[in-house]
Amino acid sequence: MAGSTTPTRSTRSTRSETQATGVTDDAAIATSPRPAGAAGAHTPAPETVTPSVAGDAARPAGGSNAALLQRREAAVPRGVASAHPIFAERAENAEVWDVEGRRFIDFAGGIAVLNTGHRHPKVVEAAKAQEDRFTHTSFQVLPYEPYIALAEKLNSLAPGEGAKKSLLVTTGAEAVENAVKIARAATGRPGVIAFTGGYHGRTMMTLGMTGKVSPYKKDIGPFPTDIYRAPFPDARAGITVEDAIKGLETLFLTDADPARVAAIIIEPVLGEGGYTPVPVEMMQALRRICDEHGILLIADEIQAGFGRTGTWFAIEHSGVVPDLITVAKSMAGGYPVAGVIGRADVMDAMGPGGLGGTYGGNPVACAAALAAIEAIESEGLLARSTALGETFRRRFAEIGARTAPWRMWDIRGLGAMLAVEFVTDFDTAAPDAALTKAVVQHARERGLILLPCGMHGNAVRIMVPLTASDAVIEEGLQIFEAALAEAMAATA
Ligand SMILES: Cc1ncc(COP(=O)(O)O)c(C=O)c1O
Repeated sequence: MAGSTTPTRSTRSTRSETQATGVTDDAAIATSPRPAGAAGAHTPAPETVTPSVAGDAARPAGGSNAALLQRREAAVPRGVASAHPIFAERAENAEVWDVEGRRFIDFAGGIAVLNTGHRHPKVVEAAKAQEDRFTHTSFQVLPYEPYIALAEKLNSLAPGEGAKKSLLVTTGAEAVENAVKIARAATGRPGVIAFTGGYHGRTMMTLGMTGKVSPYKKDIGPFPTDIYRAPFPDARAGITVEDAIKGLETLFLTDADPARVAAIIIEPVLGEGGYTPVPVEMMQALRRICDEHGILLIADEIQAGFGRTGTWFAIEHSGVVPDLITVAKSMAGGYPVAGVIGRADVMDAMGPGGLGGTYGGNPVACAAALAAIEAIESEGLLARSTALGETFRRRFAEIGARTAPWRMWDIRGLGAMLAVEFVTDFDTAAPDAALTKAVVQHARERGLILLPCGMHGNAVRIMVPLTASDAVIEEGLQIFEAALAEAMAATA
């Protein structure tokens, strides 16, 4: 499996094994509005600001970021943090405009939802066409064809030869919850094993499985029982694949009788945890251990799936076939639909009525998903992801060496699912969350939306639409470099 690239010091070849453990999806990194007149180099001059699609008359009332921030603070709980204190008005492919008319290049893609870009024409057209027919019946009352067509498509895309079935739900956490339910029903066992640094959602069960306390799990336990944690192979923390497997075996001896474990769930590339790929040997060992003990292997592909890593599913890089796959995010190009794909015999374990939900597999979202998947296929976005990954690796290495020598510790990931990690210095490799935060802030001020990740908040991850043009990506990279230079000066 592809690993890491050392950008700033070729002698540090051991960095190719660097693994960081994870952080947050949307931890707030800024809450104050951009000061007046602080527009960055890429802010269009007022006269060149592209007007709102529907004209200024259609702009939402109360249009300044500062005013909206004030209303937000009064009306929305602070627990719903936002990474950036700017309010979106419209978006197109890899660009977003805020309510003040400023243009931003979007390297965050709505947290890995927009592999096909904002408002992909085919996705919008398919959703509109479905809206003109009907928007909701509830599949459990009156079923409809787009749900079936999407399930068929997912079954055909998932790795492995045997028959498959798919359940559709609405959010990623709901998909993970249902994967656990299905695994328990299929095995008749309660236990679930997840990994340090893993992120699986914000419902109580998925929080129990998520391997990071702050901010997700603080103050709200206890979590459901029969959830166990195994060490993620993290070279950065000195945990090799061998150590991780030993840790799992120890868990079997001390806490989790393998005969009572229903499933092991793992992200093939840690998402919030820092964009660290699971080494191939680890994935193969998990498959072997699962087979040995009758445990089901769940690949959580919610962040890594649908082309982000250059394949439909990140686990394909390892050749391992999981029993269940959880999907969401880029499956539908911005519409809320998620799912569980799995072995037909396992998926059928629960009786009629045991699965579902009022909105699960909403027909508009299903139509959008079918169009997004078609766009990934017909526009060659898997190959584009691989090529983009190479571009980002090369450019980050150049930028790191030139602008932040010895501070860019690692460039890691798979395909276009890439992160760069910042440290205070190479010798201690201490995580530098302050520099990372400053890079994100200066990038925003210059017109680029970034999002951090990693257990220590010291990595910046790339989730740019795979449909972004080379010119927009290069423009974003140049802003990144300028922001990095500014952040280095500010934090020196
Ligand atoms: C790997 C993974 N699993 C589950 C989830 C939860 O998905 P959602 O936020 O749609 O509930 C996420 C969200 O970031 C994720 O990255």
